[in-house]
Amino acid sequence: MNEAPILHAEDLTVTFPSRGGPLRVVDNVSFSLGQEKLGIVGESGSGKSMTARALLGLVPLPGQVTAQRIHYRAQDLQALSPAAYRALRGTKLSMILQDPKFSLNPVQRVGHQIAESFRLHDRASRKEAKEQALDMLARVRIAHPARVFHQYPHEISGGMGQRVMIAMMLATKPDVLIADEPTSALDVTVRRQILDVLDALIADNNTALIFISHDLNLVAQFCDRVLVMYRGRIVETLPAHALHASQHPYTRGLVESLPQLDDRRRRLPTLDRARL
Ligand SMILES: Nc1ncnc2c1ncn2[C@@H]1O[C@H](COP(=O)(O)OP(=O)(O)OP(=O)(O)O)[C@@H](O)[C@H]1O
Ligand SMILES: [Mg+2]
Repeated sequence: MNEAPILHAEDLTVTFPSRGGPLRVVDNVSFSLGQEKLGIVGESGSGKSMTARALLGLVPLPGQVTAQRIHYRAQDLQALSPAAYRALRGTKLSMILQDPKFSLNPVQRVGHQIAESFRLHDRASRKEAKEQALDMLARVRIAHPARVFHQYPHEISGGMGQRVMIAMMLATKPDVLIADEPTSALDVTVRRQILDVLDALIADNNTALIFISHDLNLVAQFCDRVLVMYRGRIVETLPAHALHASQHPYTRGLVESLPQLDDRRRRLPTLDRARL
């Protein structure tokens, strides 16, 4: 990467108090995000979501974040007031969190939440914003946009919630989008379509993407570069297309535990931690 990074984290650490002393759930992680699609993979509990939350200033208490540096372009994010961070999150840095239901406002109809984003960012009139929101719902393949527009978050399925989140986050035309398992609740058939939509929208807006997923095949196809996390650390950084050919024992373990359609083995191999 020759250009200055868009996001840059150095020695990022997240700890939670525990009986045995502070637990380092993210442990001295350093990386930069350029104008790219950066995947983060790793088993459950490896610290993917906490890394994302730390970048966004959203680590829940009693979690503590420390770092040598967390920069968004020229801005030092550790120096931001909570209000300034919130303002940045609503505009330049957007996120799709792992459970979309918690990210949508439960007492506002979903269409209004998307329309609001257009009103804020494009200074659209009420009517224009509604049209743009309906169009966005259609683009994320929601079958009855006009009906869903008037529904509340608890009335829609998890998969629809993820699509609504994608629509809402992209309505703000963010500089950086952090998407944590954005398609995990979607059927395989819809997933590819939604990713194509996401891809087109981030390309239109020049949005840099951090894409967190369990799905190695998906990341290998969709992203440019991948960070592999294990126990709070980055164990490997590699081009996405090289994921399946990785020589790193942990990455190999992840790749080998992928179920293969043509695989006759009954049991999935487990990671051999003694090799790590
Ligand atoms: N509120 C909390 N208090 C204490 N520990 C927590 C808290 N939230 C998460 N953790 C711990 O932090 C570690 C990292 O969690 P994180 O959610 O980042 O994992 P992840 O890689 O996103 O996993 P998954 O793939 O299941 O989403 C885990 O061991 C988890 O148990
Ligand atoms: Mg997670």
